[in-house]
Amino acid sequence: MDIMSNEVSANELLQAHELIWSCSISFIKPMSLKCAVELGIPDIINNHGQPITLSNLISALHIHPSKTHCIYRLMRILVHFGFFTATQKVAMVDHELQQDDKEEEYSLTLASRLLLKDGPLRATPFFLVQLDPLLVTPWHSLSTWLQNSDRTPFEMVHGKTFWDGVGDEPRVKYLFTEAMASDSHLMAKIVVEGCKHVFEGLTSLVDIGGGTGIMAKAIAKNFPNINCTVLDLPYVVENSQGTKNLNFIGGDMFEAIPPANAILLKWILHDWSDEEALMILKRCREAIWSKEKGGKVIIIEKVLIENPEIDKKSAAETQLYFDMLMMVNLTGRERNKREWENLFLAAGFSHFKITPIAGVRSLLEVYP
Ligand SMILES: C[S@@+](CC[C@H](N)C(=O)[O-])C[C@H]1O[C@@H](n2cnc3c(N)ncnc32)[C@H](O)[C@@H]1O
Repeated sequence: MDIMSNEVSANELLQAHELIWSCSISFIKPMSLKCAVELGIPDIINNHGQPITLSNLISALHIHPSKTHCIYRLMRILVHFGFFTATQKVAMVDHELQQDDKEEEYSLTLASRLLLKDGPLRATPFFLVQLDPLLVTPWHSLSTWLQNSDRTPFEMVHGKTFWDGVGDEPRVKYLFTEAMASDSHLMAKIVVEGCKHVFEGLTSLVDIGGGTGIMAKAIAKNFPNINCTVLDLPYVVENSQGTKNLNFIGGDMFEAIPPANAILLKWILHDWSDEEALMILKRCREAIWSKEKGGKVIIIEKVLIENPEIDKKSAAETQLYFDMLMMVNLTGRERNKREWENLFLAAGFSHFKITPIAGVRSLLEVYP
């Protein structure tokens, strides 16, 4: 097709052009939000206790006088994307002249509430860690990596694995650990409190790659008869304190997994290639109790939505972003139902059940 010919209408050309424009500058959305988070705008609005006017927001931010006009523009794009709401407040500025002035007033949305500094469900660490230069730099080398034999773009650029890279950089280690912890608070609410039947009757559980143990703590608290163990890399669990029915082990899941009634794998298998995931699953199969004694593996992961209906388009898009993240940082991938099934059967499991839980994720119960 000759795009300069009359076969292509001007409108079609403009639409194609706009697709490229909007794609190339779409990094502005997260970068604008990052600026707002770094300036502490969500907390300033929250602490104000009521919608905040633009002028009050500017004074609270200590913006340089030459740049105050930029805050309106920053807020305008963030309102457009749904991170804040804006309403017009009419303020009488000069009573004698009877002049009215309209000023924007900003409020938080549920999304910006999740960006407040404190609170167990805060999403700020996850948001900031994804934009950290350590994680963003490898993206510039994706095409080079596709033409060489390096394991991951992250390793090609930084000369170490993602886990070593995170562990060696205190800023990223903090953000990553906090990001995992706040996600686990959310999942604990949804899965541990909301799907109690999954854990009822169990007597021991190992959370593999369980981080600082937020999920395991919730399980141990809600089910005092379950002895919980968190197995993670030594640098992750080094400062973790156990309780009566919770303990921490520093180790490597590829080497040994302690025997248990059940194993939990939350956000683990998507980090690894099929070969590596199979190795982990085989270790789990060896570690859990037999079918007769009620052994099972509980997995919280995405199951790729294929051919999404309109209402699932945005969830499917998020899953595809995660799949690319796994390609760039790690050797992993997101998987569809058939790919999960192939892995489970190859690892020696007999059947499994998928329960969609929250947004883009599912609960998979896998049985020997
Ligand atoms: C994506 S995080 C998930 C953490 C936690 N399950 C959650 O969902 O919040 C993956 C975890 O696997 C751990 N990990 C990576 N390699 C490991 C290994 N070889 N043995 C044990 N844990 C490992 C990491 O330290 C990290 O805590």
